[in-house]
Amino acid sequence: MKILAIESSCDETAAAVVENGRRVLSSVVATQVEEHKLYGGVVPEIASRRHSESIVGVVREALERASLSLSDLDAVAVTYAPGLIGALLVGVNFAKGLSLSANLPLIPVHHLRSHIASNYITNPELEPPFLCLVVSGGHTHIIEATDYTTLRILGKTRDDAAGEAFDKAARAMGMPYPGGIHMDKLAESGNDRAFTLPRPTVDGAPLDFSFSGLKTAVINILHNAKQKGVEINTADLAASYRKAVVDCLVRNFLRAADETGHKKLVIAGGVSANALLRRRLQAECARTGRTLYMPDLSLTGDNAAMVGAQAYYEYLAGHTAGMELNACAQRGIDLG
Ligand code: KG4
Ligand code: ZN
Repeated sequence: MKILAIESSCDETAAAVVENGRRVLSSVVATQVEEHKLYGGVVPEIASRRHSESIVGVVREALERASLSLSDLDAVAVTYAPGLIGALLVGVNFAKGLSLSANLPLIPVHHLRSHIASNYITNPELEPPFLCLVVSGGHTHIIEATDYTTLRILGKTRDDAAGEAFDKAARAMGMPYPGGIHMDKLAESGNDRAFTLPRPTVDGAPLDFSFSGLKTAVINILHNAKQKGVEINTADLAASYRKAVVDCLVRNFLRAADETGHKKLVIAGGVSANALLRRRLQAECARTGRTLYMPDLSLTGDNAAMVGAQAYYEYLAGHTAGMELNACAQRGIDLG
């Protein structure tokens, strides 16, 4: 089954053709990041406009690269939630038009489910059940996947998402948007014991996360140093901060693995590109006899190949939509 998938939930316009949920026939991503960088973050109105301008060309290129025409397709899939509402609407309306005119089934896909599905492309042997840490710019979840479309949230952030925590601290340290990757690179050359930072926990909810206090601690360190005229070693601060965020992620994820007994651990989302998170989880899984699955680095950020992968399993579960489909800015991953 060949699915044309479309993604426009944030600042990448993407289209891909994926066969049977696992084989990527083409994948095109047009990023807007350079433009949003000027403002230090995504400007929703600009994102919507750029999606509208790019979507026709991006979809056409995805079909061309796969050497397919509309009549070769079996379905159209689209990210419909969660994300920036104006941005999502561009993809959803385009997909609805295509589905109607080409008489193809329409498959709505939840953005975080598609991040998890990036692992089905990279790891052909991976099948549910498993435990997944979903870490993106807007969400931080520990998810139990009992099958491809039955997902349960075991833990989540109470305030900032992991990616947001990296981006906000990186911005305070003077790095360009999105700062997560810059912080990760700088941290490689720093001393992670140079600064003492908290490892916040949430009272009564040991699988939940809280990152806002950690971010504030870094901002305070930067302010105090500035007031005293002291030079901060940013590589040391980046390393100490990255270690604190990763310690919290690893601590809760392994606790969830202990509690549920899952031996297959999966990571997904933009922050799953983080070098320390990957190393730490690899080492922990090797030590405790678990298997870690990670998406290829090219699939950690937003793309449509992952949407096509999840769409296949949503289709098999009977999850299709008609012309009533609407975009949703917020919707739980467990609701589909
Ligand atoms: O999943 P994603 O591409 O978009 C959302 O759905 O939000 O995640 C983007 C987030 C950004 O916050 C970005 O800074 C972060 O992923 N990120 C990283 C790294 N690469 C991307 N954070 C830490 N280390 C990285 N290497
Ligand atoms: Zn994403």
